[in-house]
Amino acid sequence: MSINIAIDGPAGAGKSTIARRAAARLGFIYVDTGALYRTVALFCTRRGLKAEEEIGAALPEAEISLRFADGVQHVILNGEDVSELIRTPEISMAASTIAAIGTVRAYLFDLQQQIAKTENILMDGRDIGTVVLPQADLKIFLTADAEERARRRHKELAEKPDCPSYEAILADIIQRDEQDRTRAVAPLKQAEDAVLVDTTRLSLDESVEAVLDLCKERLGL
Ligand code: CDP
Repeated sequence: MSINIAIDGPAGAGKSTIARRAAARLGFIYVDTGALYRTVALFCTRRGLKAEEEIGAALPEAEISLRFADGVQHVILNGEDVSELIRTPEISMAASTIAAIGTVRAYLFDLQQQIAKTENILMDGRDIGTVVLPQADLKIFLTADAEERARRRHKELAEKPDCPSYEAILADIIQRDEQDRTRAVAPLKQAEDAVLVDTTRLSLDESVEAVLDLCKERLGL
């Protein structure tokens, strides 16, 4: 049996960086499920698809798979590696919008479960502990204040051309939190049996240690 660790939380809580580092230390595969929603968003944006029915009808033409090279996840859309293309603010917002569509979630559900079945994984997202892997061996809900999350995202994007202002990023984060928390299907919420880790006052290293401490305490890893 493979070991499954679920990490959920709002945008910019540091999930992906923390989960990637913790997975590397544990020798687990890190699965970033946000990348799957981002890839569907890219697919829809390229085709100009907006309405739920047209997205549902076109989805079977989006063949999405994950490849892992040296512990790094690559997401492949119809044979093209789109790992970099999906990291723009435009796609972040589009991902949050299409993630509210039931057919999109159902489409990605099987893919996520298949990966978890065969490998020791640390999977991050919004509904991993509540919907995708309700039987996960350990569930963590990682959060931080919206202002702190916006500061971190701003720092992360600072080197890129056209970096949005801190205010624009904060507004985006607040809007995305609202969309993710209030949607009817698989809203972002802490699973009852998830452990809350608030990283507002923790450094990256301290956050990684907090996650690893929980893995040790709860799973003996
Ligand atoms: O990295 P960041 O926190 O900005 O976002 P992400 O994890 O890449 O996810 C992008 C969007 O996909 C989120 O705003 C969610 O709406 C959606 N998502 C989801 O609904 N369920 C997941 N398991 C993962 C992401």
